[in-house]
Amino acid sequence: MYIAKTIDELRSHLAGSQRPAFVPTMGNLHDGHLALVRQAKPLGDATVASIFVNRLQFLPHEDFDTYPRTWESDCEKLRAAGCDVLFAPDEKALYPEPQTCKVHPDPVLADLLEGHFRPGFFIGVCTVVMKLFQCVQPRVAVFGKKDYQQLMMIRHMVRQFALPIEIVGGETFRADDGLALSSRNGYLSATERAEAVQLSKALQAMAEAVRAGERDVAALEARAMQSLAQRGWQPDYLVLRRRADLQAPQAGDALVALAAARLGSTRLIDNLEIDTPLA
Ligand code: PAF
Repeated sequence: MYIAKTIDELRSHLAGSQRPAFVPTMGNLHDGHLALVRQAKPLGDATVASIFVNRLQFLPHEDFDTYPRTWESDCEKLRAAGCDVLFAPDEKALYPEPQTCKVHPDPVLADLLEGHFRPGFFIGVCTVVMKLFQCVQPRVAVFGKKDYQQLMMIRHMVRQFALPIEIVGGETFRADDGLALSSRNGYLSATERAEAVQLSKALQAMAEAVRAGERDVAALEARAMQSLAQRGWQPDYLVLRRRADLQAPQAGDALVALAAARLGSTRLIDNLEIDTPLA
C-alpha cells in the first residue's frame, strides 16, 4: 500500500489510474470501514482510502482533539483489506491556508436533523469531501449508509456540481447485538456498551409500529423518544422521514427511521430503512 502524505505525492502516484475507487475516512477504522474498502475494490482500478480528521466538521465543544487517532493499526487493517493507496495528509498539507472557500450545501437538507443539532457540520463535510475529490479524482466513491443524511448530501453535491463520480452506499455494519459500528463506540464504558443496542432497538420498534399500520407519526416518534429518555439517554431525535428527501412523510412514502442520542457523554447515530410504506 502506497502512503501519500501530500496532494502532489498522491497525484503523481495516481497519474496512471483511469478509475480510482475512493473511501474517505477519519481513521480509527473498524470492520464497517473495511467493508467499504472491500466494496470499493472491484469498482475501480486502484482502491484509495483517506484518513483525515477534519476540523471543519467539528463544533468547538466537540471531540476534535480527542477523536481517536490509531495510525499503525489503521494502516495494517487497510493493507489487509487490499487498499492500494492511502492518502493521509496532515492539516497543513490539506489546508495550507485557512479554508475560507467552502461548500454550502442546500439548507433544505443540510439544516435538518444532524445539521440542526450540529450547525455547520455539513458545510465542513461537503467542503472536505469536495477537496478530497479534487485530490483523488475518483470515478467512484463509497460512503456508509450509517451516515444516511451525509450520504444524501454527498449525492446531492455531486449531482449539483456535475462531478463525474458515482456515489455508492455501503450497508451499515453491526455488532452481533445490533449496535451499528462507529468510531465513537470506543468512548462507551462497559455498562454503556451493553445499553447502546437500545438505539437500534428503538428504530426496530418504530419499524414494527409502521408495519402494524400506525399512521400517527408524531405519536410514534414521541413514544420512541420517551422510551430512550426513560432509560437515561438524552435523545436529539428519533424520527420517521421520507427516504427521498428526509422530509415529513405522507401516506404511501418509502420510509427511513433516523436517530441520534447521547448516552453519557457519547453521541450515537443510527438509522433503518423500513420496507413498508406509511399507511
Ligand atoms: O464519515 C466520515 O468519516 C467523514 O464525515 C468524512 C466523509 C470522511 C469526511 O470527513
